[in-house]
Amino acid sequence: MAIEVTWLGHSTWWIETGEAKILLDPFIGDNPSAKVAPTSLNPTHILISHGHYDHLADAVEIARRSNATVISNYEIVTWLESKHEIQGCIGMNLGGKTRLPFGTVQFTPAVHSSSLPDGSYGGACGGFLFGFNAANGMATEDALPYNLYYTGDTALFSDLKLIARNGVDCLIIPIGDLYTMGPAESIEAIQMICPKLVLPTHYNTWPPIAQDVAAWVNAVHERTNARAIAPVVNRVLRLDGSV
Ligand code: NI
Ligand code: MN
Repeated sequence: MAIEVTWLGHSTWWIETGEAKILLDPFIGDNPSAKVAPTSLNPTHILISHGHYDHLADAVEIARRSNATVISNYEIVTWLESKHEIQGCIGMNLGGKTRLPFGTVQFTPAVHSSSLPDGSYGGACGGFLFGFNAANGMATEDALPYNLYYTGDTALFSDLKLIARNGVDCLIIPIGDLYTMGPAESIEAIQMICPKLVLPTHYNTWPPIAQDVAAWVNAVHERTNARAIAPVVNRVLRLDGSV
């Protein structure tokens, strides 16, 4: 078994490992770069980093149909349960960790905002630090978990280094600018986080966040020790010990 990661466009990701099919920040139907129908997705888990529409647009429909476990902050989970009758969610808050069949998930701080589409308070925005069970994946030589850090929408801030202190195998970080950090700040973030592999997100969806991703890959290779890959929408990236 391995860990397979697929970019669905914007900041929506699909991660498969073992029995788990994890959908991160579902924004598909109204996402101009998406190439799948939201109705084709049947995740086991849906993770929502914050309340903005471009991170949870399709969450209600997919959660209802798939019965996936929704994991987000306490306020978003309460909103999904009370306004949309989604059952069995896991509500977290910053710094907390939950254990799931595929490993652990920590809800990590991010510097951003988090209102819900109807104007409700969306709680704190965050990111997710996954510790995938070694048995699920490529596992590191010493059977440590495989750590994948999805920062969510965020500015550059120095606690990224603290969050990543136990090691990050794969980092997913925004580069779009305007709403999040841009390419230059992301290089500084990668220097702090020191991942083995980095994937960019939250770019090229609309003209205001268009970026030259090939130039960004080159900058990562010149200025950090990470390997960068520009993802292609719907193309599966199979993570293994070599990256
Ligand atoms: Ni946002
Ligand atoms: Mn966003």
